[in-house]
Amino acid sequence: MIMDRLSDAHGLVELLGDWTTAGGPLYRKLAGAVAKCIEVGDLPAGERLPSERDLAKLLTVSRATVVAAYDDLRGKGLVDSVRGSGTRVSARPRVNGSHGRVPGGRATSIFQRLADGPGPIISLAMAIEPAAPELAEVYRDLADSGELGELMSDVGYHPRGYPPLRTAVAAHYTAVGLPTDPDEVLITTGAQQVIGLVAQMYLRPGSTVVVESPSWPGCLDVFRAAGARLVGVPLDEEGVRADRLAAVFAEERPVLAYLMPTFHNPTGRMMSTARRRRVAELAARYNVPVLEDNAYSGFHSRTGAAPPPIGAFARGNAEILSVGSVAKSAWGGLRIGWVRGPSAIVTRLARYKVRADLGSPVLDQALTAHLLPRIEEITAARAATMRARLDHTRTLLGEQLPQWRWQTPDGGSALWVELPDTSAQIFAQVALRHGVEAVPGSATDPTGAHDNHIRVPFTFPIEVITELVRRLATAWADLQRHGPVTDTPPVV
Ligand SMILES: Cc1ncc(COP(=O)(O)O)c(C=O)c1O
Repeated sequence: MIMDRLSDAHGLVELLGDWTTAGGPLYRKLAGAVAKCIEVGDLPAGERLPSERDLAKLLTVSRATVVAAYDDLRGKGLVDSVRGSGTRVSARPRVNGSHGRVPGGRATSIFQRLADGPGPIISLAMAIEPAAPELAEVYRDLADSGELGELMSDVGYHPRGYPPLRTAVAAHYTAVGLPTDPDEVLITTGAQQVIGLVAQMYLRPGSTVVVESPSWPGCLDVFRAAGARLVGVPLDEEGVRADRLAAVFAEERPVLAYLMPTFHNPTGRMMSTARRRRVAELAARYNVPVLEDNAYSGFHSRTGAAPPPIGAFARGNAEILSVGSVAKSAWGGLRIGWVRGPSAIVTRLARYKVRADLGSPVLDQALTAHLLPRIEEITAARAATMRARLDHTRTLLGEQLPQWRWQTPDGGSALWVELPDTSAQIFAQVALRHGVEAVPGSATDPTGAHDNHIRVPFTFPIEVITELVRRLATAWADLQRHGPVTDTPPVV
């Protein structure tokens, strides 16, 4: 599998991530980053490295830099080069390696930043914020209530979810137009776990999954890991294109469609009510289960409530699973999400859930049960800050990067920006050297399209946004002026 990924240089570039931050000359930084991939087992023994020319092109460095980096690795016994068959990771590299273990396990760059820690750069990999201040109030209220004593007097294992939270989630859906019984709710460890459980239950190697194009790399990763074949459907102003969705449902016989109707990530688009109704009709007509991920709810840049979930328009036996989470609206650290769907499906999903972790942390669930009735109020309180950040980002981008294009999002926390006539993979490498980690749009697309886009979150404090746009503008000017950076060949 990993051999396939690395058959082109893109795979290695993704593995390298933010390789430029260490000290010393560029070739040493590169050699150090490749050595780290070998050490953690991302590059197993025998793995063929890309040609010097290909890697240099994608990293926007001179070929001499890659030649010197490979020489350095060869000198350390980490790689071998055989004339005619390129450079490979040594059979027995002189580092711990991962012998006997399954190679790989690296996540999309979005998750990798979380796993590796923040680093000195401004990372655009995640659009996340600290906890809403109301969370501390809810925490105190819970501690002062008698509920904790009662909660701790039971065994604490609730694989389907802490009952008061299931009731609160059911009430939440009922209030937004999707009447729900607690039996139709499974509590999970974040929305991310729902995607994993659904993938386990629905997907087999070769299964076809429909996703929006672009989509969210975090779900693409999970579906790919399950061996799925991904088919992308584009969006228009109202959300996923219904004509294309109908054609794909009819022709591809997908086992699942994964959609983000509310503040689609990364475009921030809100699917219209009419389109939601149409998607529900198509799901019923073609018998395709739909996983609607509304985890990315939150800041709404227009007035008025979001339309009801797609599940509210389900007819007959249509399997519409609605996913939610408090990560974006209250705090990612709570790690509480849920799925709402027909009770028979939820019961089956609960079996996967119990096998995965025996249930999500019950104290966090109790907190969420108290938080959920206040979620509208919390979102509204955040809206003013988010609006100011969005306005600031738009103004600065307009002033300093007038060639960049974007549409004001309906909501969410990022701008989906088009870089005219430029590969975002190339721009991302230049941006790294200016202190910004940008995720190329190709990571969001099942076919690698959208490579001329990046997602620019506006979740940062105002002064960080100012610095971020300054760095982006400097990197852009650098790329326009000089093209890909070519450093002076190092003396080796
Ligand atoms: C569309 C989408 N789904 C799911 C998640 C994961 O949510 P959680 O933190 O609740 O697991 C995210 C996080 O960014 C997301 O953007």
